[in-house]
Amino acid sequence: MSSRFTLVGAGLIAALAIGPIAAQQASPPTPASGAVQALPNAPLPTPTPLLVAADLRDGTDLSGPWHYSIDPFRSGIAGFHGEAPDSGQQRWRDVDVRQAMASDSRTLYEFDLARSPLASLPSSWLTHAAELRHYDGLMWYQRNFVAPAKRQGRYFLRFGAANYATRVYLNGQEVGRHEGGFTPFAFDVTRLLRDGSNQLTVGVDSQATEATVPPPVTDWENYGGITRAVRLIATPDTYVDDAWVRLTRDGRLAADVHLDGPQAANRAVRLRIAALGLDQTGRTDAAGNWRATMAAPAALVRWSPERPQLYDVSVEAGADRWRDRIGFRTIEVRGADILLNGRPVYLRGISMHEEELGAEPTRAMTPAASRALLSEIKDGLHGNFVRLAHYPHSEVTLRLADELGLIVWSEVPVYWRVAWGNPDTLKRARTMLAENILRDRNRAAIAIWSVANETPVNDQRNAFLRTLVADARQMDDTRLVSAALLVERDRAANHPVMTLADPLAPALDVLAINTYNGWYTPDRLRDLPASEWRVPADKPLIFSEFGADARAGFHDPANKQKFSEDYQADYYRATLAMAARLPSLRGMSPWILKDFRSPRRQNPDFQQGWNRKGLISETGERKEAFGVLADFYGTKRLDEGGVR
Ligand code: GCU
Repeated sequence: MSSRFTLVGAGLIAALAIGPIAAQQASPPTPASGAVQALPNAPLPTPTPLLVAADLRDGTDLSGPWHYSIDPFRSGIAGFHGEAPDSGQQRWRDVDVRQAMASDSRTLYEFDLARSPLASLPSSWLTHAAELRHYDGLMWYQRNFVAPAKRQGRYFLRFGAANYATRVYLNGQEVGRHEGGFTPFAFDVTRLLRDGSNQLTVGVDSQATEATVPPPVTDWENYGGITRAVRLIATPDTYVDDAWVRLTRDGRLAADVHLDGPQAANRAVRLRIAALGLDQTGRTDAAGNWRATMAAPAALVRWSPERPQLYDVSVEAGADRWRDRIGFRTIEVRGADILLNGRPVYLRGISMHEEELGAEPTRAMTPAASRALLSEIKDGLHGNFVRLAHYPHSEVTLRLADELGLIVWSEVPVYWRVAWGNPDTLKRARTMLAENILRDRNRAAIAIWSVANETPVNDQRNAFLRTLVADARQMDDTRLVSAALLVERDRAANHPVMTLADPLAPALDVLAINTYNGWYTPDRLRDLPASEWRVPADKPLIFSEFGADARAGFHDPANKQKFSEDYQADYYRATLAMAARLPSLRGMSPWILKDFRSPRRQNPDFQQGWNRKGLISETGERKEAFGVLADFYGTKRLDEGGVR
């Protein structure tokens, strides 16, 4: 990993056309340098259907055994001259392959999904079979399901997430496509459902290209596959597609509701929070929208980590009764302070990838798996904050953060070297950000939307990210916006001197810095507390990352070499001492809670394909540094009048 203190060269990144993602366009000319504004804002992406809070709607869970079949040359997408595939390669055909070939000797199929191996979904294909451990490409999945006998209203196939590009077919018909590995998508299949058995075929392509978000080079395992729940969801003909109910910054209750369907316009709606005696009626406009603000009920208890109060909220519209469990709080910045419900808060956090405990993770984040991780933060570390890196995590985890009382940093995977000049890439990033924000706006735990991580500074990147910042603010005026930034290091100085000179900083509410003094640099740990930081004093600063690797169980008290638990613990002591001297520091999310799979990490003595910066090992074994951070947070919490 290159030093964190030099800004990566401002070279332009050509968007080269490779792999299955739509053909790339040449990068447009770099805009004139100088104060680069956000790109001319095309209208906000409007992913539809949204089906907000779909995880709470009635439906048929399509988890469980699915047939799978690899297609590394994408013959199900294109023939060998690039033309449409012939029928013998069309994995989605509604046909019994074995029977069709047995009944006519002229028939040829070079696949048979219905008789291919089975795997239990949701999970990445990396753990379906030993030979798939490093598969990166197109995989086909298929299962059959019986449609509800008596059908009325509308039916949607909803995917919690599939990594990375997905095509969905029902009974031989394509129903839709989606791009992005970490956000939900749904398709209306009402007219395609048939009585009895229905054949569902899904093609998922994990391969990243220079134009995707993220690009090919990251520092985490690329878990290809259908990694979150697939459900058949039923709604009335006209239903609540979006509802956002929250406290505004001035403490009023606000509701935005959007209906979809033939009776969406001028429709009576009813918002209820029974526990608060709130019962508000209204009527949608011609576009099916209803917006209202009202005084917050006097009995409302605001959500906080100490008291994560959630309320059952419902919106009735015709035959539909939408519901969610929502906490109400305000989050804002005032000078260098972050205010939760008007009171300064220090974010006692840690970063986390979406990867469950265990030696063979498959990114299957069940409620139990998520609770095992989040409780290490809440109870083990005495934390109140979690950075869900580097992409939108499962709604399972977001709901649990609401329930346990963990403030969340939510992020889209605009990571490292993105094709800043490619309009398709910007469109992908904007859509991902919209899908993330519109899915999770009702999650009280989320305080910060992050638009990027450790991106090189150049004019095109500044315009790209300013566009994302503007989008976030337009979709949600109740939360803070940030990005994990790099700093410049003065190499002439005889002690670490870091300057935050990123031109994106003025656009952000919270300044966030990733720093690895003493791990990726030759600094002696004893010199760290004397580090000099030149950062704006008028905004809150958090250390969004710092960390050191340690292989659990490797102790080296004499030499304290890197990868020993001793070194990692001393690194934390020195870095926390450095952090304590920064007057505008308002929190941290050290890298990282748990060791995680990364193909970049191949030291055979210590890494074996894992990034070992975890405070716990992949199987949950706490390292010495875990106690160092837990003591620091325990003391912090006492200082704030909390319990240890
Ligand atoms: C970077 C990056 C992480 C990465 C970490 C590391 O800060 O944001 O994704 O895993 O450094 O090098 O371990």
